[in-house]
Amino acid sequence: MKALVTGAAGFVGSHTSEALLRLGHEVRGVDALTDYYDPMLKKANVQVLQDWARFDFRQADLLDADLAGLLDGVDVVFHLAAQPGVRSSWQNGFGVYAEANVMATQRLLEAARLSEVRRFVYASSSSVYGRAARYPTSEDAPTRPFSPYGVTKLAAEHLCTLYADNWGLPTVSLRYFTVYGPRQRPDMAMNRFIAAALEGHAIPVYGDGEQVRDFTFVQDVVAASLAAAEVADLAPGAVVNVAGGGSITVNGLVELLQTVVGRPVHTAEQPRQPGDVLQTGGTIDLAERLLGWRPQVAVPEGLAHQVAWQQSLLG
Ligand SMILES: NC(=O)c1ccc[n+]([C@@H]2O[C@H](COP(=O)([O-])OP(=O)(O)OC[C@H]3O[C@@H](n4cnc5c(N)ncnc54)[C@H](O)[C@@H]3O)[C@@H](O)[C@H]2O)c1
Repeated sequence: MKALVTGAAGFVGSHTSEALLRLGHEVRGVDALTDYYDPMLKKANVQVLQDWARFDFRQADLLDADLAGLLDGVDVVFHLAAQPGVRSSWQNGFGVYAEANVMATQRLLEAARLSEVRRFVYASSSSVYGRAARYPTSEDAPTRPFSPYGVTKLAAEHLCTLYADNWGLPTVSLRYFTVYGPRQRPDMAMNRFIAAALEGHAIPVYGDGEQVRDFTFVQDVVAASLAAAEVADLAPGAVVNVAGGGSITVNGLVELLQTVVGRPVHTAEQPRQPGDVLQTGGTIDLAERLLGWRPQVAVPEGLAHQVAWQQSLLG
């Protein structure tokens, strides 16, 4: 297949591109290399991908890029480009989220409906559920985001279903729950915890640390996205949770980290953050049924991979 991966220089996008390349596919990657976190990390991700002659990288912003050109000859779109992160989506930060997550997605969908694309995989998020009343949360639970970021991810998901309903565009929205693994964004809790543990700093724990997080290893997430691109019978506009691998409290994660790093780690209590939810965790019955997918990597194994990667960055 020929794939367009948006956000190809990012954490999940670079792994998605790499997996496609390893399977022999052609990949066109697009990324604006935004400075939300150090663009050098993104450039390093792209460099790995450039080992393959079948990888074609375009540095461009989806808000003004020639999308018809980017979609030319493309069979499948993996739309991962976004402005991520909950905390900076409040106040004046919101405009960036509305543009990168909503406006850019609408532009891409509009171009995709005029193209030959046979599947459009959108990286949605568990943040669309907000403080879900039911745990683990299934796809039919009410969507009531608890952060401006979540509002933009849900708006883009609605755009995907409405392009499916109105134009038959074969979209599928995958609601990723917290993803971790090598190349994880430095603003994410797992990355900050590991960095603190490796550098001997105290780990900031927001609230009482009893928040439950459902972590999914990045290779499992990539496998779900690839399955969503390939399965034959998927109704346009499908919405599917991609979760599991391991539910663990923040305190439990700190304990596990001590074992992996092999030395005591200290914590510093911080006030609970606005927009942070107490529990995340999703059912995966639908992913199993529609995509034939189950996560394979448990947290202790995945954590060891991420620790090794962060250790390698420290030299
Ligand atoms: N990482 C997670 O735990 C998680 C969980 C749920 C959903 N998601 C979704 O998965 C996707 C990938 O997340 P990630 O963690 O890899 O983030 P990331 O920030 O590492 O990757 C996103 C990439 O998109 C690029 N980008 C942003 N705006 C752009 C634009 N207008 N045009 C072109 N490129 C642009 C950025 O430069 C970045 O490299 C996002 O859509 C995110 O909302 C991630």
